[in-house]
Amino acid sequence: MRGKSILLIVGGGIAAYKAAELIRLVKKAGGDVTCVLTSGGAHFITEMTLAALSENKVYTSLWDLKDEVEMGHIQLSRQADLIVVAPATADLLAKMNAGMADDLATTLLLATDKPVLAAPAMNVRMWTHPATRRNVEQLRRDGIRILNPDEGEMACGEYGPGRLPEPQALLEAIRVHFGNDGERLAGRHIIVTAGPTHEPIDPVRVIANRSSGKQGFAIAEALAALGARVSLVAGPVALDTPAGVTRTNVGTAAEMGQAIVQALPADAAVMVAAVADWRVEAAPQKIKKQGKVSALTLIENPDLLAGLAASPDRPRLLVGFAAETEDVIEHARSKLQRKGCDWIIANDVSGDVMGGDSNEVHLITDKGVESWDKLSKREVARRLAGRVADELLGVPGPL
Ligand code: CTP
Repeated sequence: MRGKSILLIVGGGIAAYKAAELIRLVKKAGGDVTCVLTSGGAHFITEMTLAALSENKVYTSLWDLKDEVEMGHIQLSRQADLIVVAPATADLLAKMNAGMADDLATTLLLATDKPVLAAPAMNVRMWTHPATRRNVEQLRRDGIRILNPDEGEMACGEYGPGRLPEPQALLEAIRVHFGNDGERLAGRHIIVTAGPTHEPIDPVRVIANRSSGKQGFAIAEALAALGARVSLVAGPVALDTPAGVTRTNVGTAAEMGQAIVQALPADAAVMVAAVADWRVEAAPQKIKKQGKVSALTLIENPDLLAGLAASPDRPRLLVGFAAETEDVIEHARSKLQRKGCDWIIANDVSGDVMGGDSNEVHLITDKGVESWDKLSKREVARRLAGRVADELLGVPGPL
């Protein structure tokens, strides 16, 4: 944020008061803020407040000739690294979508080639109205970043989505824009499990599966790259430990369970490991071919994810994976319910996913299903890590 200039357009809504706190936070983070106050916005917050907090002149009118000579509306956007519209009213969004330019704010928004981040705030029915939906969709397609409003009690007495996110969340969204990614998860601890588990049959034989550990290792790496302290609990795989990650090697599901408990407490856990569902009573000596064993008696392993979900030390965000070969989304959804986690990443492992370098996944949350294109496992990891950071930091998505 240091050295970055933000042009903050304050629209006309009761949430305009949050702009004051946002200015303070941006400045504290080292950024510079110049405000444009719409005539609607001026009904809710004064020019004086914005000027005092930003320590910059506040611009209100397109027809202020002195400004046109000194700076001009083009100049105003030229010196900004990012334009933030907060609160973005339904009217402002409609004008932005229509390409209207009938005051300083809309003229600036039409004339700029700088990135724009808009944080809408309005009555819930205005937000859900098909006209606003259309405007938001089109603006997102045009490359404007529009945050989702918060849900809650509204000034008008109604309840639902439409509240301006809190200033801290707006600051996080701005940080994401400037890509100070390396600090986003600083101070957070995240546990990642990866790879298969091996359940011994005797000292030389095991029950195993085809998990390569690549996806889990990539996730550990991506979370560490965002500054998180990552404890990687890895089953038997031949992969290097990613930079900045603390690794504990385990063999069996039981050992994996113990390593997880030892790593707690954590802010989040991403359980990627393909934990063996069954084990057997391992023979102390190598079972000879001529021996009497003709069948193995399988004993069910404890479910580590479900166990963690039910434990008093449950991390705030618990992410599971679901390896499926049919009815992928349906099965994954029921796993989310059954295991009590917050998100589940479903992938179809009927192809060459296990051991391969790419993955096609669906992110399933209580809000719905998001299907990602086929991506490299590293890119899946990078996106998921970003989403974990958004969730832990309260950034209103999608960005
Ligand atoms: N998992 C776990 N402990 C187990 C089995 C699975 O923690 N004993 C976790 C995995 O790490 C993964 C999720 O549960 O995050 C789903 O794993 P998956 O193998 O897809 O599901 P299963 O519970 O084994 O269900 P099924 O075999 O019926 O598909």
